[in-house]
Amino acid sequence: MPTPRHYLMCPPRYFAVDYSINPWMDPSKPVSVDVAVAQWTELRDTYRRLGHTVEEIEPQPGLPDMVFAANSGTVVGGRVLGARFRAPQRAAEAEHFRRWFLEHGYRDLTMPEKINEAEGDFAWTGQVLLAGTGFRTDPAAHAEAQEVLGVPVVSLQLVDPRYYHLDTALFVLSESNVAYYPEAFSPGSQRVLRRMFPEAVVASSVDAEWFGLNGVSDGRNVVLPVEATGLGSELEGRGFEVVYVEVSELRKAGGGPKCCTLEIRK
Ligand code: ARG
Repeated sequence: MPTPRHYLMCPPRYFAVDYSINPWMDPSKPVSVDVAVAQWTELRDTYRRLGHTVEEIEPQPGLPDMVFAANSGTVVGGRVLGARFRAPQRAAEAEHFRRWFLEHGYRDLTMPEKINEAEGDFAWTGQVLLAGTGFRTDPAAHAEAQEVLGVPVVSLQLVDPRYYHLDTALFVLSESNVAYYPEAFSPGSQRVLRRMFPEAVVASSVDAEWFGLNGVSDGRNVVLPVEATGLGSELEGRGFEVVYVEVSELRKAGGGPKCCTLEIRK
């Protein structure tokens, strides 16, 4: 069953790839702000069509990756855990989101001590917080998230630099199921995932490369990059409605639909 969601997004009006902090970013390749804004707008409107609420935060000049709102906060039960970025180029984003939350009435807000790229590396299933580490989020931030949010945390080790955030390798389909790309995880973490989610949808390397695991599910509708058709048919076979979106421009910065989408959970 779909449940209405509440998202926070940031329009990519200052989008650029002028530094490289993941293997997808090539500053020598041209990017178009207009195309990025058009693709982002279609994603936002898709959520609204599906009945979700989307709020927007004002983008800031000089912060080209601010469109990836998912990296700036983890909200569970109305509690907000802010972000602390690994790359100095993104550090200032955290404060803009902190202020947005305070101005919008989220008083229960903690800024982390440990490096924490929020929903880039944290995925809330409804029961547990799956937490990635290996490239960005400090493993000590997992314990910090457990204390601050008061939810059980399961740590997962990422091993492939192309899948530097958990949300490039796994997404939550429903309270009891996920889709993921096993090869992005260490052998031990693969065993954890098999044990926790025996019915999981397992993606191919092709779908993973198109950022198919950067999907967004409301429990019934799943928003996927248009190229991730193998994963899409598998999900349709399991009763999900797949909605495809174009994210080719955002992918040049190493992001997809989920990266642009911070979920606010009351
Ligand atoms: N260029 C950004 C970075 O490397 C992309 C972030 C994508 N966001 C995400 N949630 N995976 O930090």
